[in-house]
Amino acid sequence: MKLGIFTDLHYTKHPQKGREFTATAPERVQKAMKAFDEEKVDAVICLGDIVDKGADHAEELSCWQEILTEIKKYPYPFYCVPGNHDYEVMIGEEFSTVSGMPKYPFFVDVAHSRLIFLDACYRFSGKRYDEAGMVWTETMIPKDQLCFLEKTLSDTDRPCYLFLHQNLDKAIDKDYHIKSERKIRRILKKSHKVKAVFSGHYHAGAYNVIGGIKYITVPSMTDTDVNEFMIVSF
Ligand SMILES: [Fe+2]
Repeated sequence: MKLGIFTDLHYTKHPQKGREFTATAPERVQKAMKAFDEEKVDAVICLGDIVDKGADHAEELSCWQEILTEIKKYPYPFYCVPGNHDYEVMIGEEFSTVSGMPKYPFFVDVAHSRLIFLDACYRFSGKRYDEAGMVWTETMIPKDQLCFLEKTLSDTDRPCYLFLHQNLDKAIDKDYHIKSERKIRRILKKSHKVKAVFSGHYHAGAYNVIGGIKYITVPSMTDTDVNEFMIVSF
């Protein structure tokens, strides 16, 4: 199976000073999609923070549509998870509606593997960012999603891959970590089925192996003059 992955575009027509590359997101996605097409990937995945603050809500939604239009020019299935900045600009179920994703958490079985998608954009109170306000250092996976994760892992003999915006790699700066990360890593290890966890959020990117599971943090697509994206096959 082959996946094309990118993350943290932070697309806005009004980039902050020093973050000007974020305005080039559509052309970077265009180039990534061309590379994914050359490799004939099985699916395209975005790990969140697709958009950032714009002049108004309509402009933010049009930025989202612009990115989606580039992705949909190709016939590959597309899956994404929300990032903290997406919920800063999206209201209620808007993220799922705009992206066309099912309600989180969900999984899909693709080419002998199981891909599991979680939403960790929750405050420690258990309320989601769009309801309680976004605090990027406060991130947790609610209990119902952890139950779903355990069940989804136990229900299959396929190798499993996990996708979420925030980080479970203990080597990354603590501010980026998901609450109760140790407990979550234990669930993943105990299943003996999880091969890799893919995250964004930490823009520099990282790679670690913990308990035999690869924790891959994909670098931000628009942080520097390099158009960062990844093609993985397994
Ligand atoms: Fe980000």
